[in-house]
Amino acid sequence: MVFFEKAERLKRLPPYLFKEIDRKKKEALARGVDIIDLGVGDPDIPTPPHIVQAMRHAVDDPRNHGYPSYSGMESFREGVARWYNRRFGVTLDPSTEVISLIGSKEGIAHFPLAFINPGDIALVPTPAYPVYRIATLFAGGEPYFMPLVRENHFLPDLEAIPEEVADRAKVMVINYPNNPTSAVADLDFFSRVVAFAGKHHIIVCHDAAYTEMAFDGFRPPSFLEAEGAKECGIEFHSLSKTYNMTGWRVGFAVGNAGGIAGLGAIKSNIDSGIFQAIQVAGIVALEGDQTCVKDMTGIYEARRDLMIRGLREAGLEMITPRATFYVWVHVPEGYSSASFVERLLEEAGLVVTPGNGFGEPGEGYFRIALTKDKKHLSEAISRLKSMKF
Ligand SMILES: Cc1ncc(COP(=O)(O)O)c(C=O)c1O
Repeated sequence: MVFFEKAERLKRLPPYLFKEIDRKKKEALARGVDIIDLGVGDPDIPTPPHIVQAMRHAVDDPRNHGYPSYSGMESFREGVARWYNRRFGVTLDPSTEVISLIGSKEGIAHFPLAFINPGDIALVPTPAYPVYRIATLFAGGEPYFMPLVRENHFLPDLEAIPEEVADRAKVMVINYPNNPTSAVADLDFFSRVVAFAGKHHIIVCHDAAYTEMAFDGFRPPSFLEAEGAKECGIEFHSLSKTYNMTGWRVGFAVGNAGGIAGLGAIKSNIDSGIFQAIQVAGIVALEGDQTCVKDMTGIYEARRDLMIRGLREAGLEMITPRATFYVWVHVPEGYSSASFVERLLEEAGLVVTPGNGFGEPGEGYFRIALTKDKKHLSEAISRLKSMKF
């Protein structure tokens, strides 16, 4: 008898398409290959010192040592509401329209448990951050994939969703600025999503993890800026990328009070909130001097410029990203995502992510994360240029 027979929800997990590249990377490392890893979206830049300092003080304070509030300290939720108002002009009630998250991934993963019944449809983009699809499956729902293709600026084609699918759908997930395509959306698109959601009674979840990482003066909007968005939507946000705090695990969801309450009801039965010292540091991040965000964006913008120039000189093709620290690059003629990524690793020691790993329409692309300094990026480019493809 097998003791640990996996539950159906685990058996339903899609195959992990990065497995092969992970294995090859490990092998190359073991052989002593000088790897430049542009695979993972984890910033190489440390958390700004004033935020670290705030955490140090907060750790020393015994008032922060007990169980935190499930939905976040009042001062944290108020800080989030003020930040939203300053940044997007959106008004939020901190007591009902804001909830703290142990990183936005946690909230995105738990949200379907509150609103998806077995058999319900969730409209999820593809290629995409894999959690949208997997969280839907864990809740017993059925993902219906909305392809993000270059011809439609990597936005879902709402008109292409069959009427009966839209009517059965309970949730729609969108994510702009987008991982992995680095595409951006404007308010007009968000307004169209609101109209679509209103017509078909769909809850919209907007993953806004990258709104602060944008270039050329572009300021990505919040979904909640669209008229009527708060009636149908909630937005997930994170301090991970904005303040280089990926390891701290702090984020938040905002928007429709019913959506926030449902998520809160799930969470209060699963976790017990975020360590208060982290929340105190989070408040300092949101309310303190924002020069660090500007500096961080400047660094990524310079890396982006360096990388796209180098890639183009190497003969590769891509759209210049206006946001995120990802570059979504076409593989050269005659290659699949997997075969080109493999060649980059074998011949140049470069780790990048095959586009098909994010979903089938990602085939023909690979993703570069600009999470190494300019010296490493320049080295990566010169290795690329020495390859023939
Ligand atoms: C699109 C997107 N959403 C959410 C997350 C999760 O971020 P966190 O859980 O650190 O807030 C990531 C992380 O890479 C991401 O790329």
